[in-house]
Amino acid sequence: MANLTNNHLSTMFWGTTDPDDFTKGVQHCINAVKAQVGIYAGDNLFTYNRNLSFLEDAPFMAAVEKNVTTEVERAIIWRTSVLLWGVRNGLRLEGDFVEGGCYKGTSVRIVCETVDFAKVGKRYFLYDLFDHDPTMPHHAMPEHSKQLAKSVVDRFADMPNVVVTQGKIPDVLEQVAPEKIAFMHLDMNNAPAEVSALEVLFERMVPGALLVLDDYGWIAYRGQKLAEDSWFAARGYHVLELPTGQGLVIKR
Ligand SMILES: C[S@@+](CC[C@H](N)C(=O)[O-])C[C@H]1O[C@@H](n2cnc3c(N)ncnc32)[C@H](O)[C@@H]1O
Repeated sequence: MANLTNNHLSTMFWGTTDPDDFTKGVQHCINAVKAQVGIYAGDNLFTYNRNLSFLEDAPFMAAVEKNVTTEVERAIIWRTSVLLWGVRNGLRLEGDFVEGGCYKGTSVRIVCETVDFAKVGKRYFLYDLFDHDPTMPHHAMPEHSKQLAKSVVDRFADMPNVVVTQGKIPDVLEQVAPEKIAFMHLDMNNAPAEVSALEVLFERMVPGALLVLDDYGWIAYRGQKLAEDSWFAARGYHVLELPTGQGLVIKR
């Protein structure tokens, strides 16, 4: 029998008025679960008695343990496992991989280590502004800075097929972008930027390639979901909202 003690517990929940009280409430719920197995708490998710198959994926969990440094990164590993699934699917297809909005590169790093990406005959194109100014429509991230671009380039120094580009989407796509795409992740918390990325890149996705929209299911980014729903509806697509808060589209 598989090891069924798999649990993944984090105190990272967004949008609560009293985080300590909320955590106590979650713990109270956990205490009331008959079989204390398959519990995932964090990232606004609470499940129990689930397989949580990604916790049994040894290379993935090794990469998680090696690269996760913050509570947010730990809380979101279910989301990260969805990206890994998209990448594994893309390995069988023609084309390269894209992440619009890579920030520190943590989720890509975890995925790339899991699949030993340096040995894969594909490139992974990462884009970010890396720095923030208050006129921008998206929010700042804690480690945005003048140094972040270099630190992400350095982070992938052992994977020459990971191409890190600093710039604003969509403008930067005129300089650097793959012709064919086997997997794409958009995570910019920025509706105009995400729609502009779709305008340029969606038609380059090959049939069967997966698109993951990180912010799609979150009320805080509802404007982004509405903009993307209209964009996809006009092209005969529907976005699947996942329990992780991500949106999923399969390119035809
Ligand atoms: C939530 S973070 C990305 C997190 C990352 N995908 C991960 O998994 O760790 C969002 C990032 O999108 C970037 N961003 C927002 N608008 C952008 C644009 N127009 N062009 C490029 N990057 C953008 C921000 O600089 C920010 O670092």
